[in-house]
Amino acid sequence: MNSSLRQRKKVAGVALPTAVLLLVAGAVTVQSTGPAAAAETTLRAAAAKAGLFFGVAASPNRLHPIVGQEFNQLTPENDMKPDRIATSSGGLQNTGGADTLVNHARSNNMLVRGHTLVWHSQAGALQGASQATLNTFIGNAINRWGSRIAYWDVVNEALEDNNTGRRRNQWPHSMNRDANGDGDFFDAGDTDVIRDSFIRAKQVVQAGGLTTKLCINDYDVEGLTVRGGTPNRKANALYDIVRTYRQYIDCVGFQAHFNDNPNSIITNDLQANIQRFADLGVEVHLSELDIDDDLSNNDIGAGQAENYRKVVRACLNVAKCTGITVWGISDSESWRSSERGLLFSGGNGNYQKKAAYHAVLDELNKGRSATPPTTPPVTSDPPTTPPTAGCSATVSLNSWTGGFVATVRVTAGTSPINGWNVQLTLPSGTTVTNAWSANRTGTTGTVQFSNVSYNGSLNAGQYTEFGFQGTGAATGLTPVCTAS
Ligand code: G3I
Repeated sequence: MNSSLRQRKKVAGVALPTAVLLLVAGAVTVQSTGPAAAAETTLRAAAAKAGLFFGVAASPNRLHPIVGQEFNQLTPENDMKPDRIATSSGGLQNTGGADTLVNHARSNNMLVRGHTLVWHSQAGALQGASQATLNTFIGNAINRWGSRIAYWDVVNEALEDNNTGRRRNQWPHSMNRDANGDGDFFDAGDTDVIRDSFIRAKQVVQAGGLTTKLCINDYDVEGLTVRGGTPNRKANALYDIVRTYRQYIDCVGFQAHFNDNPNSIITNDLQANIQRFADLGVEVHLSELDIDDDLSNNDIGAGQAENYRKVVRACLNVAKCTGITVWGISDSESWRSSERGLLFSGGNGNYQKKAAYHAVLDELNKGRSATPPTTPPVTSDPPTTPPTAGCSATVSLNSWTGGFVATVRVTAGTSPINGWNVQLTLPSGTTVTNAWSANRTGTTGTVQFSNVSYNGSLNAGQYTEFGFQGTGAATGLTPVCTAS
């Protein structure tokens, strides 16, 4: 590793008195070095102090000083896409723009997200390629930049529009085969371009001893619900993919292009959705954030600055939400310039901070878990309850008119446990519509939740969390936990 990256850094002229951003083998770490100091004055410094990156989509012709001053992560907006760099046989070409961006990121102590390897769009010479050719391209691209890429978007936008919860049916997903006709591509005899691309990418990373983390990235997957409280089937489908292929997938990008499309609004359950993916053990990123300035009729309020604040807060409140990337610097240079969705106005290096910028900076400066949840947690165990040998469970609720998301924390008592079961009795008229990180029996009345394969074993005092979503009210929930 470049020894300069090991040094304690001044970030674009702004010293970090209480936290030091280090790039260690491609990962951001934050070391506390003293008591809390005054608020940071750049997005990157405030984010680093809170333990996450704050990045920007960038192009070689827009590497103005602001890029390194305000951001500590960079995603090539177009220069690492297959239509720029892939040959028809999976080789590389025209990597000059990508190289420029990677070098700029390194010299400004920024992480890089590679974007993107397998995508139905902007495929260029790879359009229609076989899995074998895709695998060749995956190997060439990952090895070209090695651990200089902290995160690669291995598969981008694999799921259909309009909240169907289905995979896309065009190339490369047209290569998928559901051998036993059970409606998914997860079985041993099935063909799944997502699985096979991640397996290849993981092989390359492991063979090269790289620190690069492998991500799946999509849009309209941000909330548990979409407009009107309809379950977000696209998010649920992504969740199933990540859970099934967890051994190959390290991170999930919620693109977070928020606009007035009914499936693209900001919902109250954004944080709960981030949390359920985080509970799978993956990092979650808001990977392409922009918010229309006239976003209306959304669940959590209008006003661009306020919406930015809420989205940033949802990420900060989940420890494994480790980064936010805005999709460009200024409105005029955005792919959606008419929606004025970014943090700066102006252009061509002469930028002005918008109200949204100040809201984001302020929220980042508050750090993680700075504000209480909108609904106070309902806790079944008084804090004075001594630990028991079995397990205990507490419920936190995020409620809105007609529905709620419950997060249940299961804590082992004074001895290790190998499994758990939580029983909850729901009020009359309340129905569970969706659950994650647990097996569920029943949807009304008395409902049982038990551990899944990866979260049953807990050491003494250790906890895990699962969640469920429901319609109706969630009053008086008293969980009963039984350990095995
Ligand atoms: O560079 C050429 C220029 O030479 C030519 O004159 C001009 C004529 O149209 O096109 C220019 O290329 C454009 C390119 O952006 C660079 O500006 C393409 O037409 C245009 O299609 C391309 O759009 C990009 C879009 O992806 C393509 O799908 C946007 O910049 C980029 O922001 C956007 O990014 C995507 C993410 O990759 C995935 N998630 C959604 C996001 C927004 O659509």
